[in-house]
Amino acid sequence: MATYIGLDLGTSSLKAILIDVDETVLAEHTVPLSVQRPHDGWSEQDPASWAAATDAALAALAGKADCSALAGIGLSGHMHGATLLDAEDRVLRPCMLWNDTRSAAQAARMDADPRYRTITGNIVFPGFTAPKVDWVRETQPEVFDKIAKILLPKDYLRLHLTGGHVAEMSDAAGTAWFDTGARDWSDALLADCHLSRAQMPSLVEGSAISGRLRDGFGLPPVPVAGGAGDNAAAAIGAGVVQDGTAFLSLGTSGVLFAANDGYRPDPATAVHTFCHAVPGTWHQMGVILAATDALEWLARLTGQTAAELTRDLGPLQAPGRTLFLPYLGGERTPHNNAAIRGQFLHLDHATDAKAATRAVLEGVAFAFADSRDALAATGTTIRQALAIGGGAKSAYWLEVLATVLGFPLDVPRAGDFGAALGAARLGRMAATGAGAEIATTPPIERTVTPDAGLTAAFAEGHARYRDSYQALKGLH
Ligand code: XUL
Repeated sequence: MATYIGLDLGTSSLKAILIDVDETVLAEHTVPLSVQRPHDGWSEQDPASWAAATDAALAALAGKADCSALAGIGLSGHMHGATLLDAEDRVLRPCMLWNDTRSAAQAARMDADPRYRTITGNIVFPGFTAPKVDWVRETQPEVFDKIAKILLPKDYLRLHLTGGHVAEMSDAAGTAWFDTGARDWSDALLADCHLSRAQMPSLVEGSAISGRLRDGFGLPPVPVAGGAGDNAAAAIGAGVVQDGTAFLSLGTSGVLFAANDGYRPDPATAVHTFCHAVPGTWHQMGVILAATDALEWLARLTGQTAAELTRDLGPLQAPGRTLFLPYLGGERTPHNNAAIRGQFLHLDHATDAKAATRAVLEGVAFAFADSRDALAATGTTIRQALAIGGGAKSAYWLEVLATVLGFPLDVPRAGDFGAALGAARLGRMAATGAGAEIATTPPIERTVTPDAGLTAAFAEGHARYRDSYQALKGLH
């Protein structure tokens, strides 16, 4: 029976899975990755660590299961990173990641030029690729002058695996150099950044073949699919392709994602509008920069793990007076504010680790409610969503979220394979010509519904949260 590999380059780990056509997971392997933060607002990774993690993960899969029937590979990865290569494909500097906000000034300059929002359908956020490369042009011209190719993180893995420079639509749409409606690079925007199409990878759809696995991996020379940015890949894994379907992802970042059958940009809302991973489809999303990242921050501070912090929170309670704003590295939707930072309010002698944990979970949920409202302002109303990502393991957090958001959250039954499963499905589409019909919804274990008795208390908490943001904004 044919098998497929999905590789998901996450911010905190690279995950690889091997599935068969029934989607039984035959083997999986995760390699941890670290993020370097040399200055406030900076967030970097060494692309060599991604390649080493990929080699280790593929070797581990081959050690755990028979890969002789391997028929295709798909790739997923964190979006927006700028991997700068010279003419010999050598990496010129550490990759600046999606949550790196150093290029706020460059982003603001670009965003003031109306062509960017018109062509890309998005605000130019500091985390997007173009302003970061412009920061390099201004501050490290000797590096900028050597740039022969600019690759998104998962496309660097593709170069490692196939030898080709290829991108696909969903990730390319997050660069700020992309005509999202036309699914092509924008020559005008590239020229504005002193770049040209020759420095960009060629483009395929996420479900199309981008190249073949080269020798040296101990695996057959199978097709490698275009793949997708991690959110579009997670959507393919979660069966979120039909117009009106949605997911909520509690990963390092928090994402509220809605699939669209047409291109519906509305940059004024700070909602992101990108291509989906299969032809003729798009999606919108609200992006929160620190979701589980905020809980991990509290875990480091208290010397407990995130699992320990969230273990015994008891039945759902109305939000306490302690309030947390999760803007540890700025925020995208709905604020587009790189300078804002987090805040705890109303701490008193009785505030213990449990109260602080509840406040963090509530604060992230209020940030999601802001994204829900931003999506609603574009005309996209979410009525139900799948809950995925590592943070969805916390039953308490899901109850808070369902109650704050006012719609039910479906929890998938087995495994948290989101983006890796989506990548493997795209690998299968590329190898067999199958379409979006194989991107089915996973079996649902349970549905978390809003707690009607606490809805008013959480709505009041959200209002207090919004007011606190306005007050905090004045301080930065
Ligand atoms: C989306 C975004 C993040 C990253 C990391 O715009 O920046 O969700 O893809 O997961």
